[in-house]
Amino acid sequence: MSKLRLGVNIDHVATVRNARGGNTPDPVRAAMLAEQAGADGITAHLREDRRHIADADIDALMDALKVPLNFEMAATPEMQAIALRHKPHAVCIVPEKREERTTEGGLEVAREENALAHYIAPLREAGCRVSIFIAADQRQIEAAARIGAQVIELHTGAYCDAHSDGDFAARDVELERMREMSTYAHSLGLEVHAGHGLTYDTVKPVAAFPEVMELNIGHFLIGEAIFRGLPDAMAEMRRLMDEARS
Ligand code: PXP
Repeated sequence: MSKLRLGVNIDHVATVRNARGGNTPDPVRAAMLAEQAGADGITAHLREDRRHIADADIDALMDALKVPLNFEMAATPEMQAIALRHKPHAVCIVPEKREERTTEGGLEVAREENALAHYIAPLREAGCRVSIFIAADQRQIEAAARIGAQVIELHTGAYCDAHSDGDFAARDVELERMREMSTYAHSLGLEVHAGHGLTYDTVKPVAAFPEVMELNIGHFLIGEAIFRGLPDAMAEMRRLMDEARS
């Protein structure tokens, strides 16, 4: 099986910085540390309300990083202009609601197919790999393929929530759905990524899906880094991913 890439999401370093204002802790420093510790990519979500990552963080990440930046953004004209200015390796289109604490569901691609096809075309022409963050739902996957996305990222949140609620029957249903849909998406020529809410307890079954090429993990890793440091927190995640893959 191919090696699974680990993308480290550094948004919540910025959450802590912004809780006080000022410059520390610096998410760009965290990204550099993650890169040195073997991250295959860095993920950052510039939200419309700038609650964590700021525009200047994206400027600095684009200047400093050697590994690819996966730029998460809502499908708005403002974000499209920012992405076209920076031309990151990948853009991941996510749904965004101001009142949510985190990205709660996948993007509704099927209902917005024409608009999204027009939206992503210039991003693709600029050389960005376009990824669409969706639930493991056949309709959404087919729509993502039709609009010309190269990648889908499966939303693992429902699976992780069911696990932490102790509802193992629901967790296993979610897992099975993701397994089937990653195979299906791959059969349509889409590259499959996954992420949201993954922890040491939940990562292995998802990492074991042969079609999944990349996991994007943030909140848990940044939290764990408080206790053991980011390189060590990442090394344990990497070990579990490799174990699941072997
Ligand atoms: N992938 C996507 C598309 C996301 O929106 C997020 C959260 O910003 C993540 C992965 C990482 O999720 P978490 O921070 O829960 O690990």
